[in-house]
Amino acid sequence: MSTPSLETDRAHLMHPLHHPSSYATARVWVSGRGAIIMDAAGRDYIDGLSGLWNVNVGHGRAELGDVAKQQMSTLAFHSAYAGGTNEPAIKLAERLSGLVYPSINTFFFTSGGAEASETSFKTARFYWKALGKPDKIKVISRRRAYHGLTLAAMSATGLQAFWPMFEPRTPGFLHIDAPDPYRFTNTDPSISLGVAAANQLDEAIRREGAETVAAFIAEPVQGAGGVIVPPPDYFARIREICSKHGVLLIADEVITGFGRTGRWFGLEHYGIEPDIMQFAKGITSGYVPLGGIGVSDAVRDVINGVPPGKRWMHAYTYSGHPTCCAVALANIDILEREGLPKRAAASGDRLLRGLRTLESTDGVGNVRGLGLMAAVEVVRDKATKQQFPPEAGLTQKLTDALLDRGLYTRVAMDCICLAPPLVTTDAELDRIVNIVGETIPAVLAAQVEHK
Ligand SMILES: Cc1ncc(COP(=O)(O)O)c(C=O)c1O
Repeated sequence: MSTPSLETDRAHLMHPLHHPSSYATARVWVSGRGAIIMDAAGRDYIDGLSGLWNVNVGHGRAELGDVAKQQMSTLAFHSAYAGGTNEPAIKLAERLSGLVYPSINTFFFTSGGAEASETSFKTARFYWKALGKPDKIKVISRRRAYHGLTLAAMSATGLQAFWPMFEPRTPGFLHIDAPDPYRFTNTDPSISLGVAAANQLDEAIRREGAETVAAFIAEPVQGAGGVIVPPPDYFARIREICSKHGVLLIADEVITGFGRTGRWFGLEHYGIEPDIMQFAKGITSGYVPLGGIGVSDAVRDVINGVPPGKRWMHAYTYSGHPTCCAVALANIDILEREGLPKRAAASGDRLLRGLRTLESTDGVGNVRGLGLMAAVEVVRDKATKQQFPPEAGLTQKLTDALLDRGLYTRVAMDCICLAPPLVTTDAELDRIVNIVGETIPAVLAAQVEHK
């Protein structure tokens, strides 16, 4: 449906992952309430991805707007560069230290996730240089990881589709396999799949030389790569390997933070603590842009211990933005007051139970999830797990067909990703399952007809 504003969009706006061909299906989003979003044509959709995995408290929370207005009328912005600070940033850092992993009590704020990735990588290098190990610069991540799209973050991102037209990537970034219980092949029957997948890190560090590796970065549950939930023993082995080799463990909690997985932070499921954690998205539920990193007390002590001339020379204008920090505090109030992490655990169980009833459907290769992060992977052949070829364009067809039935979400490599707001009602969750259950056979039937 063409609207005047869409014409203007075509004339003047470039979008994330931009290509003009995407406008055939473009929608102008105009309003939202809870888990529902509405387009300019007046049609309602369930927001199956909370915007972009971030609107954790749901749409239409006027109180977050009130807090932003209050802070903007008092002090919208001032610099938080060394020597200056502001109350909302101080309060937020203090609040986070009580909320995240016990060993992490010190925070730096950014405007989003990719800036957080850059900050983590630079901090890892800084840490080792400050300790007299200037050659520890490499960063290891996983295939199908998503850590953002600035140049170094893109180089850590393990989704190859993002690379070719922007290469060369930043040197010193390498990848191991994702711990995907559906697709990882464990050739050693004496160890579990989780340990086998983690051992690839051990091999990579030995191959590169521990004296050259600064950090390993991992999302507790890989999101944009298709919601990959590692086996329960994966991260304990990862922690052991990082500690043994002197490699910092960076947890990218940009999606998994702030209740998404049914706990406040994703690695709580795995019983380990990272050296650096990064967050964004859910910290403000997307109402204003904010991200950041938290560092362990050990990392903080090294940063604080260098002489002033060797200071941590990293900065963003909007670090510690008072308005964004004030909104984050109010957003965390809502998450706490309404018990949303716990609700995500219960709602996630319901969603996953519902999606698992689709496992016998033709084309449904795998159903997986943790809390309110889930995916249904669509395959051409369930026995061999073979996917449809890219020319089949299944990802776009599934996305469009879900939208036609009133469900907004993203499909990654034929995995239908689902991460609705933590306030999604049981009826809405059941509707998501019904729509996914109707859509897959309909799209696959049309696929056969066109051959
Ligand atoms: C795990 C993870 N890290 C980093 C990012 C990058 O965040 P941003 O798009 O705010 O730069 C994302 C975005 O989806 C993400 O999912």
